Formats: sequence, structure tokens, C-alpha cells
Amino acid sequence: MFERLAVHQRLCCGVLYLLAAGVAFTSETRRPCPQSCRCNNELLVNCSHGQLSTVPDNLWKDAKILNLTHNNIRTLVHQQFQTLARLLELDLSDNLLAIVEVEAFLGLQSLLTLRLARNHLKIIPVGAFAGLPNLQLLDISSNEILVFVDFTFRDLAALQCIKAADNDLVFISHQAFTGLTSLHELHIDGCNLTAVPTEALTQLSVLRSLHFHRLGLNALPNYSFHHLVHLKELVISHCPWLETLSGNSLFGLNLTSLTIRHCNLSAVPYIPLHHLVYLIYLDLSFNPITYIHGNLLGDLLRLQELHLVGGSLLSIGIGAFRGLTHFKLLNVSRNLLTTLETGAFQSVDALKTLGLDNNPLACDCRLLWVVQRRQYLEFGGHSPTCTTSLQLESWHFLDFSEVELPGLLTCRQPQILNRKPQGVKVDQGHTVVFYCNAEGEPLPYISWLNPQLRPLSPTGRIRTLSNGSLEVRYAQPQDNGTYRCVASNAAGNDSLHVSLHVQAFPSSSKNPLRLKGWFALPSASPGVNGNQKHPFDVKTLLIAAAIGFLSFFSSVSVCFIFMFFWSKSKGKIKHTATIAYVPRSAVSNSNGGKGNYMETSRFTMKLI
Ligand SMILES: *[C@@H]1O[C@H](CO)[C@@H](O)[C@H](O)[C@H]1NC(C)=O
Ligand SMILES: *[C@@H]1O[C@H](CO)[C@@H](O)[C@H](O)[C@H]1NC(C)=O
Ligand SMILES: *[C@@H]1O[C@H](CO)[C@@H](O)[C@H](O)[C@H]1NC(C)=O
Ligand SMILES: *[C@@H]1O[C@H](CO)[C@@H](O)[C@H](O)[C@H]1NC(C)=O
Ligand SMILES: *[C@@H]1O[C@H](CO)[C@@H](O)[C@H](O)[C@H]1NC(C)=O
Ligand SMILES: *[C@@H]1O[C@H](CO)[C@@H](O)[C@H](O)[C@H]1NC(C)=O
Ligand SMILES: *[C@@H]1O[C@H](CO)[C@@H](O)[C@H](O)[C@H]1NC(C)=O
Ligand SMILES: *[C@@H]1O[C@H](CO)[C@@H](O)[C@H](O)[C@H]1NC(C)=O
Repeated sequence: MFERLAVHQRLCCGVLYLLAAGVAFTSETRRPCPQSCRCNNELLVNCSHGQLSTVPDNLWKDAKILNLTHNNIRTLVHQQFQTLARLLELDLSDNLLAIVEVEAFLGLQSLLTLRLARNHLKIIPVGAFAGLPNLQLLDISSNEILVFVDFTFRDLAALQCIKAADNDLVFISHQAFTGLTSLHELHIDGCNLTAVPTEALTQLSVLRSLHFHRLGLNALPNYSFHHLVHLKELVISHCPWLETLSGNSLFGLNLTSLTIRHCNLSAVPYIPLHHLVYLIYLDLSFNPITYIHGNLLGDLLRLQELHLVGGSLLSIGIGAFRGLTHFKLLNVSRNLLTTLETGAFQSVDALKTLGLDNNPLACDCRLLWVVQRRQYLEFGGHSPTCTTSLQLESWHFLDFSEVELPGLLTCRQPQILNRKPQGVKVDQGHTVVFYCNAEGEPLPYISWLNPQLRPLSPTGRIRTLSNGSLEVRYAQPQDNGTYRCVASNAAGNDSLHVSLHVQAFPSSSKNPLRLKGWFALPSASPGVNGNQKHPFDVKTLLIAAAIGFLSFFSSVSVCFIFMFFWSKSKGKIKHTATIAYVPRSAVSNSNGGKGNYMETSRFTMKLI
């Protein structure tokens, strides 16, 4: 009954409305433009800067564009725009809007674009966007929105883009995006959002571009975006706490463009990235990243651009872009790089753009390729400059003339200094340090090879020190041999041989418990000549050995008593027990020493 009445009323209204429209149509051109607005014949009503505090009510029914920006409108009431059925674009940006009532936009059935940016909206009630079946773009950025509640956007089936950046979102409800079946692009600001709204995002099955600003996370969790199979572009920016991406954080994505800018990443997220084989564009600018390591980006087969501007890059490793045959743009402006070697690239022929300015570059032979290719390279208007070489201080790369080039960007082969022969004889258990120091331009890198020609690392008993020296701690007879120091730089290498002869400790082979590994521990005095005395006399050693035996036998006895009672209680009396033990020295000697100590000692005891 009531329904029928309502339908009847609505029909009446419709007829009246049509009549009114017909009347209006004839008199439309003569109808005055609302005060403080400017109207033109393209059906644009421009009320910008009109000092309006409410929406004017005598608006043209045929208006296509309504501009109400820069006014003082605070409230949009129920069905405010009901008559504007042909309106395509409504702009209410830069007002004082705090309240949008339910069905405020009802009747705007042709509307494509709705802008509410830079207002004071804190919450959007469910139903506020009812009656906008064709809306494609919604801009609610720069408001003070705190939450998106369930079904906020449920009526916007045609919506393609939501711009909601620069809000104060602290919560996005699971069903907030329900109904957005056409949404391609979403910009949100998760000001203090402490979790990625993974659940809400699963509703956006056709999303192609997602922009997140100001997330309050310090690690991006695993499977954050795993339902967004059509997502191509992901932008995460201004997250000062974001330090890491979990290994599977980007799982399920097939991106072509990834940007993580102005965050706090200290390393390139190699593992989370490696499955993105369709990635073309990668931007990690303004993160405190210090290295791009060699051979770790090779899975990104189609990568064309890497931007890492304003980071803390100290070096780009050899082979960093190996395998990336399409790689054509590298922008590493404003970092701390001293050089960039051709070895980093698969091929520099493909490289078209290189941003290398504002780095403390050392102009030597390693950068010759940049100067030689300067006709083919685009430097983005900022030519790299030399800063570390006194003679070339602040020269622009474009300033060198062909003629002076070969003489200017040069390197000097390494030369090992103090080449006196280093042959060392020491007694077992002592520590030996071999020196190796080299000069060259650029400063050579020093490495050591063991007698089997394997490189030695900065860890272990035999290790390289940061100043180029080699340290052999607790020297053992099996350390004997010739070690090689290699100093290398971009111009070549130089090497030096040193030999080590370790004299086995004379009494060691007779000691039944092989305690000599323990003797060596307190020996600390380093020396190339190795003529130190033993740090302990025989008396001390005997006492130490006796204490060792005592504690050993007391534990054996406890074991033995325990076993005795245990076997008794089980009723199966065993009359012998075999006890095997591994001396501690075999465990503590990580390097070498295996052959001597690995065999276990064992003895058999008879039980009563
Ligand atoms: C509307 O008027 C303002 C000046 O009040 C002008 O800046 C703006 O460009 C106009 N907008 C359109 C779409 O014509
Ligand atoms: C977000 O966090 C910042 C600092 O932690 C705080 O100043 C700000 O008020 C918070 N914003 C909201 C909307 O909670
Ligand atoms: C960024 O990370 C560093 C350590 O990696 C930390 O010391 C610093 O406080 C972090 N910055 C912020 C804003 O959390
Ligand atoms: C994320 O996934 C990786 C790989 O499965 C796993 O090693 C890591 O522990 C996970 N991280 C978290 C925070 O669950
Ligand atoms: C990933 O995206 C590329 C193009 O961006 C497309 O050709 C490819 O089929 C997609 N792969 C999958 C598994 O969806
Ligand atoms: C590198 O990025 C900076 C900052 O975005 C830009 O100003 C510069 O032009 C870029 N350089 C190149 C070579 O594209
Ligand atoms: C190198 O460092 C080690 C330990 O830090 C030191 O014993 C040695 O004297 C140093 N060598 C040189 C040449 O400075
Ligand atoms: C040192 O240089 C020679 C050629 O001058 C080269 O054959 C050799 O591989 C280099 N050695 C190292 C360890 O770089």
C-alpha cells in the first residue's frame, strides 16, 4: 500500500520534473547563472572562489561540469544534487566539508568524476555514495579520514580509481572495498596503519595499481598481497619505519613496476623480488641501501630500469646486473659511490641513461668507459664530476677532450711494498702474522691464498686481517707451506710468496691424553721470528694434567656407579663397560688438525 503510494508519488514527481525540465529547456539560455558563479555555453558552471557556504540551488539542469572549489561549504545534505542528472564532473575540492550525508549524491546518474580533495572529512557514512552508478574516479585525498568501514563503496560498481592519499587511516575494515568490481587503481595512505589490509584488498580482483603511503610497519609481512593477481604496479612510499620485506611478502604478485621509496631499507630485497620475472621498473630511491651485490638480481630477466637515488650506496658489485640483457637505465645519483665498473653490467651497449652525478667519484681507468660512451649516454642534465682526484677535482665528464683522455683517467698497477723474503719457522702452538702492504691507483685489494691456492677468509684459525695481514693462530705442522699475497686493482695484480714452517711440539706424540691442544690456547704472543719460550714450566703442566685426570676419573666413576645400579635394577647384570671419549682439542681445533685428533680413545672397565 505504502509502496504503491510511493511509486505513484515518484511518478508524479517524475512527470512534474519532466514538465519543469521542458519549461527549463526553453528558457535555459536566458536563465541567470547563480550568483558568484560563471557559466559558459559549454555547460560549465564555475563557482570557484565564490565564497559560497552552501551549494547553490538554482543550478542549470544541463550542466556537465560543476566547479565548487575554494568555497566554504561545510555540509552536503541529502539529495543535494538531485536535479543534475547530466552532470559528468563535480569538483568540491578545497572546501571545509566535514559532513557528507547519506545519499548526498543521489541522482547524479551520469557522474564520472567526483572530487572531494582537501576537505575535513573524518568519516564517510555507508550510503554516502549511493546513486552514482557510472562514477569512475573518486578523489578523497588530503582529508582526515580515519577508517573505511564495511561497505563504504558498495554502490560504486563502475569505479576505476580511488585517490585517498594523505589521510589518517588507522583502520580499513575487511569488507570496506566490497562492491568495487571495476577498481583498477587505488591510492591509500595508511598513516598509522600497523597492518597491511590484506583481507580488504582481496575484494579488489581486477586491481592493477596500488599506492601505499605512510605505512606504520617495520617489516612487510609474508603474503601481504597474495590475491592481487592482476596487480602490475605497486608503490610503497614514505614509510620511515619500514626496514625489511619478509621473504614471501610479495608472493603471488606478477608486477611490472615496483617502487619502495623514502623507506628505511638498508639492503636490496633480493629474495622477495626474485620471482618477479616480468619486472621492468624498480625504484628503491631514498633508502639507506649501501650495496648492490654481484649476481643477485639475475632473475629479473626483463628489468630495464633501476632507480636508487639518494641512498647510501658505497659500491655496486661486479656482476650486479649480469643477465639483465634489457637493462637500459640506471639512476644512482646522490649516493656515495667512488666508481662504477663495466663489469657490473651484462653489456654497456644496452645502457642509454646513467644518473651518476653527486657521487664522490674517483676519476681513474675504471670510469674511462663512461667518458668514452658519453655521446650515447643520457646523463639527465647532470654530468658526473670527479671529486677525489686532486688534479681532476670537479671536472665534468663532458669536459674532457678526446686527446687528453688517455692521459687523465689512468690507473697504476699494484705494487707490494717491503718485499723482503718472509720465511718463518715457529714451534707448534704459536701465532704468526705475515704482513702484506701494497700501493697502486686505485688502492689495491689484498687477498691471500693458502698452499693449496684456495683463498683465505677473514674468519677461522688462519685468517686475513682488515689491514692486509695474514694471521695463523696456534700454528700446526699441517699449516706448513707457501702462502701467497695477491694485491689487485683494475689495472692488474702483484703477488708475494711467504713460507711457514711449524715445528711439531716434541713431547706431544708421547702424551697419552693428547693435551697439547690445550697447551696452545694461552699462547698469544705473535711474532714473525717465532723464538718465544713455552709459557708454562713442567710443574704447572703436571698439576694441570693431574687436575684434569682427577675430574675425568670422578665423572667416570659417577657414570660407572650409576650404570651399575641401573643394570642391577633391570636384573641384567653386565660385567664390562666400554667408555669412548673425544679429547676436547679435536673439537676446538676447527681448521686443520683433523688427522691427528679425530680418532676417539676408548678403554674397557670391568664391573663387579
Ligand atoms: C574557474 O574559475 C577559476 C577562477 O575563479 C579559474 O582559475 C579556473 O580555471 C576556472 N575553471 C574552469 C574549469 O574553467
Ligand atoms: C600517527 O602517528 C604519529 C606519530 O607516531 C602521531 O603523531 C599521529 O598523531 C598519529 N596519527 C593518527 C591519526 O593517529
Ligand atoms: C632506520 O633504521 C636504522 C637501523 O637500520 C635505525 O637506527 C633508525 O632508527 C631507523 N629509522 C627510523 C625512522 O625508524
Ligand atoms: C616468511 O616466509 C619465509 C619463507 O617461507 C620464512 O622463512 C619467514 O620466516 C617468514 N617470515 C615471517 C615473519 O613469517
Ligand atoms: C605476468 O605478467 C605478464 C605481463 O605483465 C604476462 O605476460 C604473464 O602472462 C603474467 N604471468 C602470469 C603467471 O600471470
Ligand atoms: C635521476 O633521478 C633524479 C631524481 O629523481 C633526477 O633529477 C635525475 O634527472 C635522474 N637522472 C637521470 C639520468 O635520469
Ligand atoms: C694489522 O693488524 C694486526 C691485528 O689487528 C696487527 O697485529 C698488525 O700489526 C697490523 N699490521 C700492520 C702492518 O699494521
Ligand atoms: C693477475 O694478473 C694476471 C695477468 O696479469 C692474470 O692472469 C691472473 O689471473 C691475475 N691473478 C689474480 C689472482 O687476479
